[in-house]
Amino acid sequence: MYQYRKDYPGVWENGQIYGRSLATMLEASPTPLFVVSPARSLENSTRFVELTRSLTEDRAEVFYSVKTCCDPQILRMIAQSSVGAEVVGNEELKLARDAGFSRFIVDGAWKSSTLLKETIESNCQIINIGDANELSEIDAIAQQYGIVQPIGMRLRLPHQNFLGLSSQEFELVLENLSHYRHLLLSGLHVHAGFNILAQNIQPIIDTLQWGASTASAYGQHITTFDVGGSMAEMAAIENDLNRYVAMLVSSLLTMSEARLIFEPGRLIVGDVATLVVSVVRRTSGNVLIIDASAELLSFLSGQTPLIGVWAIGRPLRGSLNEMTVRGIWESDHDYITVQLPTEVIVGDKLLFFNCGAYALSFTEAFSPYHTHIMYID
Ligand SMILES: Cc1ncc(COP(=O)(O)O)c(C=O)c1O
Repeated sequence: MYQYRKDYPGVWENGQIYGRSLATMLEASPTPLFVVSPARSLENSTRFVELTRSLTEDRAEVFYSVKTCCDPQILRMIAQSSVGAEVVGNEELKLARDAGFSRFIVDGAWKSSTLLKETIESNCQIINIGDANELSEIDAIAQQYGIVQPIGMRLRLPHQNFLGLSSQEFELVLENLSHYRHLLLSGLHVHAGFNILAQNIQPIIDTLQWGASTASAYGQHITTFDVGGSMAEMAAIENDLNRYVAMLVSSLLTMSEARLIFEPGRLIVGDVATLVVSVVRRTSGNVLIIDASAELLSFLSGQTPLIGVWAIGRPLRGSLNEMTVRGIWESDHDYITVQLPTEVIVGDKLLFFNCGAYALSFTEAFSPYHTHIMYID
């Protein structure tokens, strides 16, 4: 069950979202309203870069995962911090370039020829291979440009069935690597897909260590360990990151030239957008119907909702109660259970503080409902 938050420093404090009065914003715009703070993404990104650099003694590089939120204003902000962009498609590459990113890595289960050509041409730092069939095309393009392209191999983690290369597939690639004269295997990549914390990191370390020693047995020297995203979202305890990064450093950065790559998404943009919705009905059984729809589903994608209440100036003093929050869709599945103050009534506003990842981009692209967006500069 999700907890009600009275305030959330930097996002929601004393009736203000990102330092601006919610009452004033609601005079200017109806709900559902996304309040977006591009500046927050720059703060988050800068903080993460500083944290990883200091914990690794400058042996970490950060590439923002563009898919997580590709809103141009947010991308432009993030590009101002010293991070590169992790892209999986042409559109993402174009958006990232237009926003001012100049360093790229490429991921993804399938990479179009256009994406490969454009990234190889612009000195893509590393292309992470998800399938051995990608090798010959990348080798041929690198040959055309007269370069040797650094590549990484995405390895399958024990809990994954389809993503990345299995141990047998990886060894087969290593056996055949000498056929590709324009590729340099320098990296290993994993992406857990859950929130990595110090207590669940061991399989990631084991897989990367196994990959490096297997590659070494075939004469390949791995210098880059790319741990993907999953660095936890804003709702997770950020302090754990220190322990987590320290474990990666002590177990993977054992050679002087070794370095780590991080590809954070939700950690950078999770809390850059707050969705403000109105309670339009309160039914018996403590069900609150809100005037939003698909957003309710999309923010659940990998995020732990952080929810507050704005009771139109009325102080909320009562006890918390278990309530069901539902959008206006007629569906038995689209609801969440939250602890909310008992006095929430029709007209009050619910605030979903971490709607920056996926929800914002999806809303802009697909929602048939008119969602209002207000940028805070
Ligand atoms: C390969 C890869 N890198 C990075 C990310 C971003 O992950 P997160 O939001 O957990 O940081 C994703 C998202 O799923 C991903 O698939």
